[in-house]
Amino acid sequence: MTVYLNGQFMPIEEARIPVLDRGFIFGDGVYEVIPVYSRRAFRLAEHLRRLQHSLDGIRLANPYNDGEWTNLINELIARNTSEDQYLYLHITRGVARRDHAFPKPPVTPTIFMMSSPLPAPPPELLQSGIACITAPDNRWLRCDIKSIALLPNVLLRQMAVDAGCAETILIRPESVTGGGFMTEGAASNIFVVKNGMLLAPPKDNLMLPGITYDVVLELAAANGIPHEVRKIAAREVFDADELLLTSSTKEILAITTLDGKPVGDGKPGAIFAKLHRLYQNFKRDVMRA
Ligand code: PDD
Repeated sequence: MTVYLNGQFMPIEEARIPVLDRGFIFGDGVYEVIPVYSRRAFRLAEHLRRLQHSLDGIRLANPYNDGEWTNLINELIARNTSEDQYLYLHITRGVARRDHAFPKPPVTPTIFMMSSPLPAPPPELLQSGIACITAPDNRWLRCDIKSIALLPNVLLRQMAVDAGCAETILIRPESVTGGGFMTEGAASNIFVVKNGMLLAPPKDNLMLPGITYDVVLELAAANGIPHEVRKIAAREVFDADELLLTSSTKEILAITTLDGKPVGDGKPGAIFAKLHRLYQNFKRDVMRA
């Protein structure tokens, strides 16, 4: 596997970072995950825009412009063997004596990129759907930043694995009403379907603005699937006809079991089937373009 570190391509075994890197010490950095289909980065402009948003959120200057990123990304894709890959980009506030406050300028960020093979979701999973659990969303209030400090997400996702499930759906408690509303998954976005209506939570500070989420809403708009973006109460999640999960690595999956109970009739539903087909066609068209 060939990776990119601070200006050079090298085998992953040779990539080294100093222990005082602020990514290692503080989790002081941001990342991106970009799917690659047939050696073409999917929605690259959108991923680079979100990277800029994350960098702005942690007050770290973008080391490259979009043209430079594009060239480096294309070179990384070419140097790795799979047709379908997922790219991981990681930028930290560099190496400095340990102090919470930013190091004095000039700051030299650490820039790391790697590529892994991206397998298509197994057909059995598309047939059966996945099982999820719910848990209180105990993360910070800047979940729109794709921060490498992922400890809450790690713990929340592990709860799902411990329960034999694929993902944890997060419910942000609401002190005023005593209820709560659904934000996203520990590493994914979540949609609710009720009476033929596709519901998506708003892209605010409490969730990551997913690139796959955007594609799904665009496909819904272009294909006459009724949809609404608004806060989704926890009880609407438990009362859903269908639940859908999206991410760059999982694409779009049906959630058929929630907290051990069937979602709707317990099978992937009609809106899932339609969006999944549209997503596959869209991907194919983008690859051909
Ligand atoms: N995670 N929300 C969270 C918290 C995520 O970590 C992710 C993706 C998403 C979906 O965003 P997108 O559609 O742009 O992948 C939503 C990536 C895949 C990861 O951390 O590996």
